[in-house]
Amino acid sequence: MTLREELLYELERARLTGEVSGEELAKKLGVSRVAVWKAVGKLTEEGFEIDPVKGKGYRLSYAPQVLSEGRIRALLPPALSDMPVFVYNETSSTNDRAKEAASKGVRRALFISDRQTAGRGRLGRSFYSPAGVGVYFTYLFTSVRPVEELCPVTPFAAVSVSRAVSELCGIEVGIKWVNDLYLDGKKVCGILSEAITSLEGGDENKIAVGIGINLTTGAFPEELQKKAGALGAPVDRCALAAKIASMLFKFEEDPLDRSFMAEYTARSTVLGKTVELDRWGEKTVGKVTGFDRNGALILDTGDGQKRTYSGGEISLREVKGGA
Ligand code: BTN
Repeated sequence: MTLREELLYELERARLTGEVSGEELAKKLGVSRVAVWKAVGKLTEEGFEIDPVKGKGYRLSYAPQVLSEGRIRALLPPALSDMPVFVYNETSSTNDRAKEAASKGVRRALFISDRQTAGRGRLGRSFYSPAGVGVYFTYLFTSVRPVEELCPVTPFAAVSVSRAVSELCGIEVGIKWVNDLYLDGKKVCGILSEAITSLEGGDENKIAVGIGINLTTGAFPEELQKKAGALGAPVDRCALAAKIASMLFKFEEDPLDRSFMAEYTARSTVLGKTVELDRWGEKTVGKVTGFDRNGALILDTGDGQKRTYSGGEISLREVKGGA
C-alpha cells in the first residue's frame, strides 16, 4: 500500500477505539511525525475530516466518497486481512479484472472501480456504471466444491447486499428472482456471478461475484429511465463493499449452508404472484410458490404440477379481471 493508503488504513482502524497518536502513526508507517502531519494535511485537502485530539493524536471523523484500498482493508474482518484489494478510477469491468487475475493464479481478491466503461450484466446486457454515484465491485474466491454447488452464491449475494443496505442505510430492498434488487418498483442493484474453470479440469473452481449498486445515480440513459433507480442514500462505498465482501466470505467458508434462503424468500417481490418466465424464448406462465434450496424458481403452472426452473428471466403478469 502507498503511504496515503497505509495512513487511511490506520486512521480507519483507530476509529473503532477513538484516536491514534502521531507518534504511533509514525512508527507504524516507518516515517517521521512531520511526514505524518503532512500526509494528514493532504487528506484534509481532499475532503477527509481528521480532527486533532489535543495531546492524543488524530481521529478520522468523516471520509468523502473516495474509494480507498486502505479503508476497505481496515473494514474487513481479520480472516480477510491479507486479501488484495484493487482499486480503479476507471476500468472496463471489475469482473474482467477478476477473471484476468484468476487466470494468473490469484485465489481471492476484491476489485472495485469508481466507474466502469463496459460494465456487464446478465444475458449479455450492459450495466450502467457512472463515476461517484454507485458501487461496482467483484469478489473473487476459490473453492474445491463443484461449480453446481457454488451457484447459490448469487442468491446469497442478493441477501448479503439487502442486509448490508438495511444495516448501513436503513433501507429495505426486495429481491426479484434471480438476483436483482428493487426499491419502489425500480432496479437498484444487479449481480453477475461468473465461474472461471480450467479446461484441463483440476480440483478447484474460481468464482467472480460482480455486484453493482446504484446509490445516487440520477441521469440514467433513456432506455433505463423507467426500470432503473437508486437507493438515494450516499452511503460510504468503502464500508458497503467491505461489509458485503465479509458476508460473501461466509458463503466461501460454508457453501452448503442454505439457511439464507429463508431471508431470500421473505424479501422476494414475486412470491405468490403470477409471472411469465422467459427461458431463451420459451415462455411459461405460472404462480410463484417458492424457491428450492439452491434458489431455483418453483412455479405452479396451473395443471396441478409444480415445476422448478434454475434459469431465465421473469416478468410480472397482469391478472385480468383481478383485484
Ligand atoms: C445484471 O443486472 O444483470 C447484473 C449487473 C452486474 C453489475 C456488476 S458491477 C460490478 C461487476 N462488473 C461488471 O461488469 N458487472 C458486475
